[in-house]
Amino acid sequence: MKNEIYIEDIGQFKDKEATVSGWLYNRRSSGKIHFLMLRDGTGIIQAVAGKNDINEDTFEKCKELPQESSLKVTGLVVEDKRAPGGYELQVKKIEFIQMSEDYPITPKDHGTTFLMDHRHLWLRSSKQHAIMRIRHSIIRACRDYYDTRGYVLIDAPIFTPAACEGTSTLFETDYFGSKAYLTQSGQLYMEAAAMAFGKVYCFGPTFRAEKSKTRRHLTEFWMIEPEIAYCDLDGNMDIAEEFIEFIVQRVLEERKEELKILERDTSKLEKVIRPFPRISYDEAVKMLKDGGLEFEYGNDFGSPDETYISDQFDRPVMVHRYPAAVKAFYMKADQEDPTKAMCVDVLAPEGYGEVIGGGQREDNLDILLGKIKEHQLPMEAFDWYLDIRKYGSVPHSGFGMGIERAVAWICGLKHIRETIPFPRTISRIQP
Ligand code: 4AD
Ligand code: MG
Repeated sequence: MKNEIYIEDIGQFKDKEATVSGWLYNRRSSGKIHFLMLRDGTGIIQAVAGKNDINEDTFEKCKELPQESSLKVTGLVVEDKRAPGGYELQVKKIEFIQMSEDYPITPKDHGTTFLMDHRHLWLRSSKQHAIMRIRHSIIRACRDYYDTRGYVLIDAPIFTPAACEGTSTLFETDYFGSKAYLTQSGQLYMEAAAMAFGKVYCFGPTFRAEKSKTRRHLTEFWMIEPEIAYCDLDGNMDIAEEFIEFIVQRVLEERKEELKILERDTSKLEKVIRPFPRISYDEAVKMLKDGGLEFEYGNDFGSPDETYISDQFDRPVMVHRYPAAVKAFYMKADQEDPTKAMCVDVLAPEGYGEVIGGGQREDNLDILLGKIKEHQLPMEAFDWYLDIRKYGSVPHSGFGMGIERAVAWICGLKHIRETIPFPRTISRIQP
């Protein structure tokens, strides 16, 4: 079986006969004409079926045709400036493939829980289409960025023997009688790979047993993680800002229509141009205090703090040198103030919070050993990781960007759950 044509290519068939295979998106009728809105995944076209143009039986069937019935419509492609997409189909023949039953998602307002329960169907609607297409563009842009700059793609494993990002959010599984965990990050493996290839990246699903319900957290999310040998914190920030500028500008070029469907204020995205401001944790804390926010020095920033800080700028802001105590064990200590870590979080504008986390890694064997002990991590699980510091240790850095955080921000979505086809959260593993 072969699809005759796709709606996005319909212009090539102007004044010719074509067959569109799709689903009924919507329908209205005047006594003598049916207007069928057909969708095929690539677009929507209006098919106009006049009583005198098609056989009587077909015309009668169209009267009752349920939403999302599958059908093949053959007709003449005519240009019509008023029609969505600029063309309409003057129907000659309809082949009904399957009559849908009462489709649960109608143009009326449904609550989010209902829509999420029907996520497998909800993906057919135009807003979800726009989001998924933008997600696709973002992922392609991410890959293009590294692929065209000499990075080697090195896939990280999903089953891991130890925590990378703290033991409180580990998903544990039974691995032939011993414990394994779903990966929280490919970073540790990328560090090994960077020593083999110079600059590398991985892109894959990562897992966190996030016990709180927030607008920013999924339990399964996709992360792209570059890692670069002979790169310090400043170099890392240079890459992060160029990377973010690249993907945002790519989406603006490629996905105008989709951003319009989402009613995204694109003037905000147009401002995402290097250089981004770089401020230290200390400077960020001062900003909070000056703004009258209550904040205890030494803590990590919460969502309202991040929002306040990012609201001071019109482009992403890079906050570096957090207290080491609130960051992961592998962070390199700042030479000038060892209580600080050589890390960076990139906070997106408009209150979207952290989209990137990363930094320079501890490259000294003894200090790293001390950190693993301090964090009470199982030393045996890190034997291999310590080898990286024994055999040609060099300064190196990297970061991770959560794809869904980036999609939420670029699409302007309030909640992260719509940024991934089938979201997994503390309260949802269906459908
Ligand atoms: O800041 P995080 O925890 O950093 C790491 O995992 C590093 N090992 C990455 C590295 O240096 N290679 O997570 C990185 C990013 C966050 O900035 C955020 O965008 C996203 O991953 N993220 C989440 N996205 C959705 N749901 C969650 N629960 C997330 N946790 C982190
Ligand atoms: Mg982080």
